Amino acid sequence: MNSVDSHILVIFGSSGDLTKRMLMPAMYDLYKKNLLPKNYAILGVGRTQFTDTEYRNHIAKGLQTHSAITKNESDGFLQHCHYVVSEFQKTNGIPAFVQRLTELDNKYKTQGNFIYYLSTPPQLYKPISEHLGISNIAKPSHTFPGWKRLIIEKPFGINTETAISLNTHLQTYFDEEQIYRIDHYLGKETAQNILVTRFFNTVFEPLWNRNHIHHVEITASEREGVGNRGGYYDSAGALRDMLQNHLLQLVALMAMEPPTNFSSKAIRNETLKVFESLRPLTLEKLERQVVRGQYTQSTIKEKQQNAYTEENGVPHDSKTETFVALKFFIDNWRWGGVPFFVRTGKNLPTRVSEIVITFKHIPHPVFIKNASGQEFKNQLIIRIQPDEGIMMRFGVKIPGIGFDVEPTNMNFKYAEHSKVSIPSAYERLLFDCMNGDSSLFIRADAVELAWKFVQPIIDEWEQNPDFPLYGYPAGSWGPKEAFDLKKPYGEWRQPCKNLTNSDTYCEL
Ligand code: BG6
Repeated sequence: MNSVDSHILVIFGSSGDLTKRMLMPAMYDLYKKNLLPKNYAILGVGRTQFTDTEYRNHIAKGLQTHSAITKNESDGFLQHCHYVVSEFQKTNGIPAFVQRLTELDNKYKTQGNFIYYLSTPPQLYKPISEHLGISNIAKPSHTFPGWKRLIIEKPFGINTETAISLNTHLQTYFDEEQIYRIDHYLGKETAQNILVTRFFNTVFEPLWNRNHIHHVEITASEREGVGNRGGYYDSAGALRDMLQNHLLQLVALMAMEPPTNFSSKAIRNETLKVFESLRPLTLEKLERQVVRGQYTQSTIKEKQQNAYTEENGVPHDSKTETFVALKFFIDNWRWGGVPFFVRTGKNLPTRVSEIVITFKHIPHPVFIKNASGQEFKNQLIIRIQPDEGIMMRFGVKIPGIGFDVEPTNMNFKYAEHSKVSIPSAYERLLFDCMNGDSSLFIRADAVELAWKFVQPIIDEWEQNPDFPLYGYPAGSWGPKEAFDLKKPYGEWRQPCKNLTNSDTYCEL
């Protein structure tokens, strides 16, 4: 048994894609692992005219597609799922919702412990949080004395100004401690393992600084194009969709100082300092530090791939970037002078997210050159997904006469290490929220600083129509200019070669 308080998880936007693909499978997995309390309920809220039974059938269908389900277990889980028809963002939707919440609170004896999950379009964040506030169910009250937590999904605004405005609005009705901003990258097991790798072992941390590290690169590549999300994506682009949030969060975990303890406050204070230390991007250097790209038509396995501008919902003259690469610095004692490179894009050869730390060259070349005649540097590769693990690259002597050296790899793979399957990011994050642990959620100040960092790029792209947008063939590793950006420090690690003509699984 576990110690999670009895509670109701209220999902606004409950018939949407995220609920079906992520939230319900995550809740179901928690249920199967016996991690949900005996008294819990899920209350879906939406416009669709579902009865409880219809809603359960709808969820069951989703679970069949996205989870391994057994009838007995899913029946037990589904019994706790309920639904209320309510457009809660409109004032006339409030009474039906509050009445249903009250009934379920009585039925399940949840004592007013409520999680509100906003799985809705972002424009509904403000009205829904406001209506929770004016209905007196955002904070503990006489009627509902228990805790209240609000989970929201990115985008947390679309620039610095709107992020501040959203935070201010949410904080009018909820205290900051009640707000859980999800970045699902922080829920990934391997992202959390960055902290354990760094702060549990003595071998890494002494090397984790400007004295030993030559540069850091982070790649989050995706095999798929924008699919049917063209409408949303075109107003976001790779910078807002991936870099401002997921990639900068990985940077923070990679670059932060050790927290004094593992409290959420201590961890988040340290990640905040990383954002505070990001060297501001200046207009003069922007073109030398940022490369934006957009995928163009290509043929893979004799199948023609759309250009981005041919995708559904995308204007034919769109200048939205589907790829971005950025070079930047963290101006603090640990990282002074160490370049960081990040890149992310859609329609690249494969789906892979990894952090590559390249160490400095030896101070004096005893063996001068390795067998292939190239300079060699140690690398530590933290593979976030897939094939999760860590790899160390180092040199070994080639057996035989002489002292020729060749690089080799030492691997740790999660799949080989543990029989326990890696939980989904949503499973982990939902469970943390139920326990009131906000360590892996983003605080308001961090969101604002991350936007502030990328704001000069947003401004320049909006204001300067001549800022280059480079095409890259769908299925390639992005525009040539992204390679040029990295070249002075060595090539981007290319974990999979010659992939454009095959389906790719990219091994660590
Ligand atoms: C989401 C983005 O936040 O992350 C998507 O909106 C992207 O565009 C996704 O595909 C990538 O997540 P993951 O876990 O598949 O790397």
